[in-house]
Amino acid sequence: MSTHESVDRPTRPGVPSSLQELYDLDTRPVPDALRADSHPDFGLTGIARDRYLSREFHQLEIEHVWSRTWQMACREEHLPDAGSHVVYDVGDLSLIVIRGHDGEIRAFHNSCLHRGTQLRMEDGQVDRLRCPFHGFTWELDGTMCELPVRGTFRTSIPTRTNSPRRRSAPGAASCS
Ligand code: FES
Repeated sequence: MSTHESVDRPTRPGVPSSLQELYDLDTRPVPDALRADSHPDFGLTGIARDRYLSREFHQLEIEHVWSRTWQMACREEHLPDAGSHVVYDVGDLSLIVIRGHDGEIRAFHNSCLHRGTQLRMEDGQVDRLRCPFHGFTWELDGTMCELPVRGTFRTSIPTRTNSPRRRSAPGAASCS
């Protein structure tokens, strides 16, 4: 028996019976990647144990999968208010997914532009994103708003000071 054999599911009136039917009802554009619908037959051969333990394979997954694909970081309702955020870590990437004062959800690298300090360690709510090391601070839309003791730094301050942003998609808070 194939592991991808179709199964008759009970249907209820008004309730989509598939993910694609659910997308059809969405009032917002659905990313093309979510419309891709295929069921390749991977057979029944077991996957070698070292596939899960191999450092090299892990690096390949980061390079070819996790850094290139849309991922669901959280649901919109997990970010109810301005400043609500989640820290989303995958592989060697760490992102902050945060709701702005304008209601938009954005994703930023969880790394200070000055020395790379991790900006947020855990989920929560903030008025602004402030680096715990020297206090560089960004508004919720990634605009730099505070650069304390600018003159005391011997090395140059980067000219591009807005927080680097990742792509994010509406619906569930997804990012790539
Ligand atoms: S490392 Fe963030 S302000 Fe210096």
